[in-house]
Amino acid sequence: MHIDIITLFPELLSNIFSHSIMQRSQNKGIVSVEFHNLRDYALNKYKSVDDYAYGGAAGMVMQIEPIYNCLKDLKEKREYDEIIYTAPDGEILNQQVSNELSLKNNICILCGHYKGVDERIREHLITREISIGNYVLSGGELAAAVISDAIIRVIPGVLNDETSALTDSFQNDLVSPPVYSRPSEFNGWKVPEVLLSGNQKLIDNWNIEQSIKRTKERRPEILIR
Ligand code: ADE
Repeated sequence: MHIDIITLFPELLSNIFSHSIMQRSQNKGIVSVEFHNLRDYALNKYKSVDDYAYGGAAGMVMQIEPIYNCLKDLKEKREYDEIIYTAPDGEILNQQVSNELSLKNNICILCGHYKGVDERIREHLITREISIGNYVLSGGELAAAVISDAIIRVIPGVLNDETSALTDSFQNDLVSPPVYSRPSEFNGWKVPEVLLSGNQKLIDNWNIEQSIKRTKERRPEILIR
């Protein structure tokens, strides 16, 4: 998969993509990522990419031309399966959306800023709008990183068997069971006996029971779906 990210802050993102699973996916050659600085497409020497909103609304708006020109350049190199805009009023990111996007070949993510982008970009150039939750961030970079991470970890081959994304919370509409490691007792706090039993069938059953119990307690809404 190739991910192009259009941003005002490429340095902010490059660090996030240079660690852990995101980095490993690139080292394995499964994912490639490029950042494109929108200011390279600014129309004036001040490198500004925003302007006042028509109608006198407060806040600046990301202008249409720099984004249009940037996308035009990128589209000459690649055909995109999705051109995503990060927006608080977009469809909410969840595991199902992440799984679906992980099957795509080429994705472009446009990071929003200020009061947002000129609406004509959303109407004519964007194919999908994604929110990472019902709260407003200062910019779309963190959202782009969250979306990319959620997508990348479920691409086949990115995680190895032990860390398989299939055992993540929300795959199977259940949250994960609790996990423990050595020592088996600390401060008088004990690891549940069954996990030390060596009986894999009992352990599997316990894990399923715990997943269902936790989901009922913490995320009842996903059980009802
Ligand atoms: N930009 C600002 N807030 C956002 C959010 N919650 N999700 C995605 N992009 C955003």
